[in-house]
Amino acid sequence: MKGIILSGGAGTRLRPLTKVTSKQLLPIYDKPMIYYPLEKLLSAGVKEILIIVAPDHCGDYMKVLGSGKEFGKDVRFTYEIQDSPDGLAQAFILGENFLDDGDNVTLILGDNLFEADLTDAITNFKGGATVFAKEVPDPERFGVVKFNDQKQAELIIEKPKEFISNFAVTGIYIYDNRVVEVAKSLKPSARGELEITDLNNWYLNQGELNVEIMDGDWIDAGTFESYYRANEWAYNRAKK
Ligand code: TTP
Repeated sequence: MKGIILSGGAGTRLRPLTKVTSKQLLPIYDKPMIYYPLEKLLSAGVKEILIIVAPDHCGDYMKVLGSGKEFGKDVRFTYEIQDSPDGLAQAFILGENFLDDGDNVTLILGDNLFEADLTDAITNFKGGATVFAKEVPDPERFGVVKFNDQKQAELIIEKPKEFISNFAVTGIYIYDNRVVEVAKSLKPSARGELEITDLNNWYLNQGELNVEIMDGDWIDAGTFESYYRANEWAYNRAKK
């Protein structure tokens, strides 16, 4: 299993904090934000990790994270630049060379913090795709899963305007290697992005999407309110 951390984007909602640095390098209590998703991958035994960054901040990421050596003996980081934030699914197009040995891959967003231990899901992954849903009060901000009466995922809609369910798809996704070819076949959405929801719906239509309900807290730290909450959360956990 390989890992990709998607750490580009514009971070416009956190301006002026993101005027001179990347959102995912901002501190969350005592560590840069990206350490939290990075530690999730490392603790699940993922050692080869591609970090995708925006052009302006590439040097800063290399300074902060280095080769990977500091994080463990066999840990190895590779970097790719995403020229413009054209969507989450672009990660697999940028990652094509990194994934050319046919390996499975876990994608995690650089501004997402998870409490749950995802080791079992990552180490026991066999194929298809696995995503994690979590009940939220504001589903219109996310990709949202609709379940049928048998509690099976029926449909995923990106930022639905009309309510379909409270279950948001969180920012960690596990795919088999077909994801590279599927990502390459996607067309940009109406907002001009290659949508991860389209990838997930591809696996859903094949009958190969496993949607697990996520335990514990999940924070997407991309707004001032959630960024502040993430700091409180990290402080409280450190003090426990
Ligand atoms: P978002 O929070 O949706 O976007 P953003 O970080 O650009 O912030 P804003 O909306 O405030 O301008 O992105 C979610 C995560 O995915 C975040 O870690 C940035 C990353 N991302 C990329 O790396 N590339 C992309 O093309 C997109 C859309 C997001």
